[in-house]
Amino acid sequence: MNAHASQSAREFELGGVVPWGRRLSEYRAFFALDELASGSPILDAGGGPSSFAAEAREMGARVVAADPIYALYSNDIRLRFEETAEAMRTGMRRASYRFNWSYYGSEEAVHKLRREALDLFLGDFERGKAEGRYIPASLPSLPFESGSFRLALVSHLLFLYGDDLDFGFHLASIRELLRVAEELRIFPLVNLDGLPSSHLPGIMNALWREGAETELVPVPFEFQKGATRMLLVRRR
Ligand SMILES: C[S@@+](CC[C@H](N)C(=O)[O-])C[C@H]1O[C@@H](n2cnc3c(N)ncnc32)[C@H](O)[C@@H]1O
Repeated sequence: MNAHASQSAREFELGGVVPWGRRLSEYRAFFALDELASGSPILDAGGGPSSFAAEAREMGARVVAADPIYALYSNDIRLRFEETAEAMRTGMRRASYRFNWSYYGSEEAVHKLRREALDLFLGDFERGKAEGRYIPASLPSLPFESGSFRLALVSHLLFLYGDDLDFGFHLASIRELLRVAEELRIFPLVNLDGLPSSHLPGIMNALWREGAETELVPVPFEFQKGATRMLLVRRR
């Protein structure tokens, strides 16, 4: 680990993968999404307390989110969010220089969006569970039929937590996502230190050898400096 990486490791002390959710407008930017309302459903893998599924429903689109935290009660999810918010506040202050603030403007604005996302998500959670839109599930194994989704999205889980989740987990998860969806998009491709994921080249190579199409696609969003591309994977 170089000096910068070891300094960064102290900046975000999250203690594992945390429930920290984004809004639909952010998902649109991460994944260069325009079309939402047409076609078969979209899977939000590791959707957590994001309001993507809730907001998509309001727009008439069907998004199914899968995450282990959907086995918890709303109050417990809120509690975990509050613990995360504190760690994020500390981390973001320490690591402020590593972010491009042009999209959000300030740390307060980021927190406001996260809270909005949490409230929209929790407001939809019980109805969404009853409608089969929030499914308790953990990668690398998903309880869906093959080809259930036209698109699967993974935001802020794979690659970002690459120091906690190993190469085998990444490859098995991506294979599983390609089983259930025709196309997969993953963002960001850097780790919590803001460094390019060490798993990415090997993953792209393995997928290419297995006959999948992979592409690094520029997106209209940058927060962690340099994280300006998503990984797009398609079955051939
Ligand atoms: C940082 S949050 C991101 C939430 C959302 N995708 C977003 O960007 O707003 C990461 C989420 O990944 C979930 N997660 C952790 N391990 C997982 C696994 N094995 N399979 C699916 N989701 C997982 C966590 O519960 C958490 O909600």
